Amino acid sequence: MQENIHPSEFKITRELRQQALGQQAKLVWFTGLSGSGKSTLANATEQALHKRGYHTYLLDGDNIRCGLNKDLSFSKSDRIENIRRIAAVSQLMMDAGLIVLSAFISPYISDREMIRDLVGTDRFLEIHVDCPLEVCEERDVKGLYQKARQGLIKDFTGIDSPYEAPESPFLVIKTAEVSPEKAVEQLMNELEKKIKI
Ligand code: PPS
Repeated sequence: MQENIHPSEFKITRELRQQALGQQAKLVWFTGLSGSGKSTLANATEQALHKRGYHTYLLDGDNIRCGLNKDLSFSKSDRIENIRRIAAVSQLMMDAGLIVLSAFISPYISDREMIRDLVGTDRFLEIHVDCPLEVCEERDVKGLYQKARQGLIKDFTGIDSPYEAPESPFLVIKTAEVSPEKAVEQLMNELEKKIKI
């Protein structure tokens, strides 16, 4: 807690908002290499949740880095700050009663543990979007791997910056082996057990 700062406790609590929305607030955290399919999966999952009447919000790396986090680079310390801010925003959105879907490379185990500690183990649903580097590089949807190989982008995850895979995630989705449709079906089956009141 910062000195001279005294947060207030308000009367309308997360519990009341959850009851009003008829759902349990959770943080569904998609982690994986660039090009592994995080945004695609998060987007399709949000659509499926929306269709079933759940209240959601999707936070995504490229989008957040155009606004809130546009001052941050891909150095280790800036990636840590990126995830710290996203964790704080996700926490606020959960206080609003929402099911938050966050799609960030989030390469460090310690950062993802920080999020788990902040939001609570039962609320943090870590999804490893698992795809071999070779396949991500082959896809190279944004042409970033080619640029990284040419030395035009530095600190690129998987090339000259590390990615630490989760050790015991809530779910692993192998996007090189399973179709997006099947993956969303599996995700929805597991998520609905957690988000229903
Ligand atoms: S991180 O590691 O969690 O802070 O990254 P994130 O905020 O998710 O941003 C990842 C997207 O930024 C683009 N990009 C890079 N990714 C990795 N390394 C480097 N150096 C880099 N430079 C730009 C890229 O489009 C990432 O999007 P995804 O969707 O992961 O491909």
